[in-house]
Order: sequence, then structure tokens, then C-alpha cells
Amino acid sequence: MSHFRSPTLTRRTFLTSATAGAAVSLLAPPTFSAASPAAREYKLRCAPAPVRLVPEPWAETQAWTYNDAVPGPEIRVRQGERLRVTVENGLAEETTVHWHGMRVHNAMDGVPHLTQTPIAPGETFVYEYDAVDAGTFWYHPHQCSFEQVGRGLYGPLIVEEAEPIRVDRDVTWVLDDWRLTKAGAISDDFGGRHDMMHSGRIGNTVTINGRVPETFAVRKGERLRLRLINAANARVFALDFADLEPVIVALDGQPVAPHAPDGGQVVLGSAMRVDLVVDLTGKPGSRVSVVDRFYEGLEYRLVDLAYDDAPLRERAPDWPMDLPANPLAEPDMDNAMRHEVTFNGGMMGQMVMQQLGGSMGGEGAGGGMMGNMRSMMNMMHGDDIWFINGMAAQGHILDPMLTLERGATHVLAMTNATAWHHPIHLHGHSFRVISRNGQPTRYREWQDTVLMAPRETAEIAFVADNPGDWMFHCHILEHQASGMMGVIRVG
Ligand code: C2O
Ligand code: CU
Repeated sequence: MSHFRSPTLTRRTFLTSATAGAAVSLLAPPTFSAASPAAREYKLRCAPAPVRLVPEPWAETQAWTYNDAVPGPEIRVRQGERLRVTVENGLAEETTVHWHGMRVHNAMDGVPHLTQTPIAPGETFVYEYDAVDAGTFWYHPHQCSFEQVGRGLYGPLIVEEAEPIRVDRDVTWVLDDWRLTKAGAISDDFGGRHDMMHSGRIGNTVTINGRVPETFAVRKGERLRLRLINAANARVFALDFADLEPVIVALDGQPVAPHAPDGGQVVLGSAMRVDLVVDLTGKPGSRVSVVDRFYEGLEYRLVDLAYDDAPLRERAPDWPMDLPANPLAEPDMDNAMRHEVTFNGGMMGQMVMQQLGGSMGGEGAGGGMMGNMRSMMNMMHGDDIWFINGMAAQGHILDPMLTLERGATHVLAMTNATAWHHPIHLHGHSFRVISRNGQPTRYREWQDTVLMAPRETAEIAFVADNPGDWMFHCHILEHQASGMMGVIRVG
């Protein structure tokens, strides 16, 4: 049965529990009215404010913030708790808040016009939903995201397991990438055509939790749970922890069989999260650099881990790392419905499509990939740069590109027919990544954002159990803004 609290379901659950004499105070009230006593309350006010991203002697940077800080406050609740977040808009333009990766009721999803009227300047909106999954999530506007997120509007949202795994410290690192001027101001060239056509707005200054990091203090023998969140508009990270051996225990908030990262590098496309267990095994007083190696020839040192002189313990602990599963419906692969999704466009897209067109025998979305390509390349002017199944999105109100039967298992067979990486995100659901380039994945990982390499194919599978109209888009925010977005309806 679905654990989403649609008003009808909730009412039924409520009555059943009430007649059974169970404790009903933890259950959702029958509507999203503002009167549920059990909710955890938060207030977020978006407004411009100065923040110290870069150290002196640079000036502070004028950013757009939640509660005057970048990142915004860490929202932290227990799994099963209800959240009520009052958002006040102190910007001079409309905004919304989207709870990335949280499987919320559609009306709480924060997509302008599609799921709510945007919050006008000076107005407030109350979001209220249950934290059904434990894990590492985040929040950000969905209105003009490439500028609002790019100016600093984002924050972490942590949902704790009823019994978290044992670690010495639970640490959140929100990574961001800024394009700053020499004076330390945010470069205001948002939405430039070059960024849209290529890899998005790649910046020149990387921050952890809103600061250019120098060192991060650790102790020998210590075990960290490190929650990484990529809040950058476009930058992909591939973090190399040198001789440490980080273990991936969750992806996009969802538990995964603990494993070492492929090739030793922890890769996060925009919007993705990775939970690591890191045992600090170096010598007291020593340092180890975490290096980002994603873009060849542009490697840089992100931060140094600096060991205290006094060890915490001599040897790494051997505590279990397996996280308890979240209540996700298991896809029924024998009865799955299959849908083809092809991403096109961008710089050099024509070349890639010619290559793939040859090797794929000319088939593709809607048949006749080559014909599609020609018309798309003709349309590739203005802001229509990227296409999903031949369509470039404008704004958030769209005819659904797919309508999925509710309660059934669906496979999206996706082809990245472009020369660029794309982190592809679906709202309202998590999905299993079941294959890449025709090969089954080792961990069948649950994700809400899957990073696709140029020319890569990937299949994702999920039960469409959350009704509503859901955004499906590339999370490189410049790509999203120039067409790489669609709506998937769960009917
Ligand atoms: Cu991080 Cu459509 O969202
Ligand atoms: Cu993209």
C-alpha cells in the first residue's frame, strides 16, 4: 500500500487507527490545514544578505539567502515526523521551495504554476509533509532556479533513521561552485547562451557549507558519516580522498550496499548526494588533501583533512555500516511498462546524433531520429537548446510527456544523445538504476538523480505510486532553463 498521505488515504488511516485505539497523534491530519500539533516547525525567509564566502581581504559577497546564511539552516527531523516549513519571500521576485528527493504530496512539491502559485514578494507559503524516507536531502527554489540557486538559495534537509548507524561524527558538506568577480561579487551573467549550450554555469570558486575551505580537523581512528550534497548549478565533482578508503552507504538519501567508489572517486552531479563512512587512518599531526578530479586538467585541492596530535583511537572501529531500507515499493520487473526517453541538443549535438543514428539504425524517440534531429537543429535558436523526445520545455506548465499508470512499474529507457553530462532528476519518486549501457548495475541503486555520461544509456525502474504531475529534468540548471525538462503524470 502506498504510504503517501493523500487526503483520502489519510482519512482512512486516521479512522482505522482511531478505532483500533492506536496513538494517532503521529499520523497526518486529514488535510494540509495548518493545525497538526505533531509537526516540526521551521521558518525560512529568503532575502538578499552579505555572506563571507571567501576569506579576507576579499569583501563579503552579496548573496540571496535563507535566514541570512548560505547554506540555509539545516532542517533535521526523524523519519516519520511531519514537517511544517513557513517560507517568507523577502526577494523582489517570486519564489518557491522544492524539497529535493523528498517524496512529498504533489501540492507540496514547490514547482511554480504546476503545483502551486509562486510565492509573491512579501508573501508566505506553508509547506507541510511527512518525512517518509530517512536520508540526506536538500531544498532549493524551483522558480528561475539557475539564478536563485546560483545566488545562494539552498540548504540541507536531513532525515535521521530511527536507529542511525554508529559513527563518531555525522557531518554535512554542502558543496557549491560560484562564479565570482575579482572583487568577490557574484558575476551576474546568469542564463548566458554559452553556459546553456555547453556544460552549464561552471564557476571559479568552490565552497563547502558556504566557505572556501582551508582545513577540516579530524582525529586518527575517528569514524565520520560524511553527507555530501552537490548544490552547484552545473559542476560535477569527483572527489579523491587519497589513501583514505571512503565507503558509500547511501546515494541520493537512499541506502545502498556499502561499497568502495568506482575508481576510488566519489562522483556527484548537480543535486546528487552521497553518504560516506570515512575512517580516518592517517598519522596524528599529518594532513591529507581531498582533490576534485572530475574535469581533466582542472584538478584542484578541495580541502585538507588535518589530523589532531592526539588520536581518538588506535584502530578504525568495525561497527556495521548497513543503513535500514526505506519504505520504497519494489519494482515488479516482470510486469513493467517501458518508455523510451532520448535527450538531444546542445553544442555538438548534431555530431553525436549522427554517430548514434548510425549505430542505432536510425531509431529513436518517436521514430526517425535523423529527421527529428534536423528539425531540432533548425529549432535550436532562442532558448530552445535541449530536447527531451524532441520537445524543448518553456516554463513549468507543460503537457505531460508521459502519463504513467498509477501503481504500476515503469521503466524509463534513457539515451543521452548529446556530447555532455546530464544529471537527470525525477520529482516525487525514487527509482532504481537497473542498467547502464546495457549492463545491469551492480547495486541496483535507488536514486532520484542519475548522472548520464555523453552517449550513455541508462534504464531506471520505479513504481509510480505518488499521483500528480511531476517534473522530470536535467539538474544542470542552465540546461533545464533551455528546454531539458518535461512533466511526467502519474494518473
Ligand atoms: Cu532539485 Cu526539479 O529539482
Ligand atoms: Cu543537462
